[in-house]
Amino acid sequence: MDKIRIIGGNRLNGKVSISGSKNSSLPIMISSILTDDVLQIHNVPKLTDIKTLTFILEELGASINQIRVKKSDLSAPISINVANISSTTAGYENVSKMRASFLVIGALLAREGYARVSMPGGCAIGTRPVDIHLKGLKTLGADVKVEKGFVIVKAKKGLTGNYIQLEKPSVGATQNLIMASTLAKGETKISNASIEPEVLDLIDCLKKMGANIEINKKNILIDGQETLHGASHSVMSDRIEAATFAIAACITRGNLILKGCDPRNLELPLYLLRNIGFQIKDTDDGINVDGYLTNEIKPIDLITEPYPGFPTDLQAQFMALLTQAHGVSVINEKIFENRFMHVQELVRMGADIYLDGDKAIITGKANLVGAQVMATDLRASVSLVIAALCAEGETLINRVYHLDRGFENLEKKLSNCGAEIERIR
Ligand code: EPZ
Repeated sequence: MDKIRIIGGNRLNGKVSISGSKNSSLPIMISSILTDDVLQIHNVPKLTDIKTLTFILEELGASINQIRVKKSDLSAPISINVANISSTTAGYENVSKMRASFLVIGALLAREGYARVSMPGGCAIGTRPVDIHLKGLKTLGADVKVEKGFVIVKAKKGLTGNYIQLEKPSVGATQNLIMASTLAKGETKISNASIEPEVLDLIDCLKKMGANIEINKKNILIDGQETLHGASHSVMSDRIEAATFAIAACITRGNLILKGCDPRNLELPLYLLRNIGFQIKDTDDGINVDGYLTNEIKPIDLITEPYPGFPTDLQAQFMALLTQAHGVSVINEKIFENRFMHVQELVRMGADIYLDGDKAIITGKANLVGAQVMATDLRASVSLVIAALCAEGETLINRVYHLDRGFENLEKKLSNCGAEIERIR
């Protein structure tokens, strides 16, 4: 199994091009099920999660191609055409690899009146049920049952628009129910919806496909259409990747220009980085993060919350940075019940972190020293990369496949900016 080896201590300097967002690309690719026309998607990152979804969509009947003018053009858009649905089943093998694939259920149900999708299991960051998705589909008139590990949904006469009040602003449930409602009869109102930038990006794409959707604060109104049509859409840049590089620049006291980063999607994280001592400026096509002049990092308290609150997907990376703050910081994880798997690994590198329920108490400044470490999810793994960049000596990170799920060319991007990092196969 591949490992990543990092020798810490180098400042990061230079430019990084931020990739297209993984968490935006996945639902947007799935929205291709809603039409028999071609959906062209630009800026899709090359990641294993995208590959997994490609297999799932192909099993359902999609034909997926990369539209390259030149052979070398790796960033060419992809086209997805689901002219006919050849299967309405998404099986265990792929759905269990990636929870986001459960989103095919709403689109398949809307288009075919039936879907059979493997129940996604628990995962390293928490139990992550799908009850909110299923309750919403029932409200739209679907018959829902769980049988032999599969969720089976039926609406032979089609779905009917309705009022759906979400218990929690679940990102996935909001996306699933928006997609299902675009082809329902009449109007749907989803209240207490997620308004994460990735949800808004999906809505943007669906509108280009002919959907009628309006947003009013945390309410999403969908006027169902008979059909949707093909469109061309460019996926937003990955805000989590951008903030991860910003934190890497900060922890190494470097200076990075993050090309393509949209600071409007990162208001709170960038505000906090400024607050604890770093300089961040907007540039023509991104941001510049400067850690050269920072002497001491100030400790802070933060709580993960739905957007526009602090994103849980940046909690682990901020924790790595806060090990270098002078004083005590507290991170309260409010989204997932078990998203502290990186803590013990950071402690192995010399961090002083104490867990108290859903709170992590981080006392700095710690002298981090390289070690063999291992992580259990994507964002936890990258927090170990960040810690390793400022640790003394060599860190070996195991289970690199987590990183490959969500960070495009991570080693290359970091080594181009001066990090000593290599993959050991
Ligand atoms: C999305 O997951 C993201 N994944 C996650 O990113 C992200 O951490 C999460 O949103 C929160 O921002 C993708 O976009 C592919 P939720 P999702 O439904 O949609 C509970 C990453 O690293 N809940 O908003 O699965 C749930 O257990 C990943 O890229 C229910 O109780 O998250 C959690 O506590 C990890 N019942 C909370 O809601 C449900 O039916 C929020 O989950 C659904 C969710």
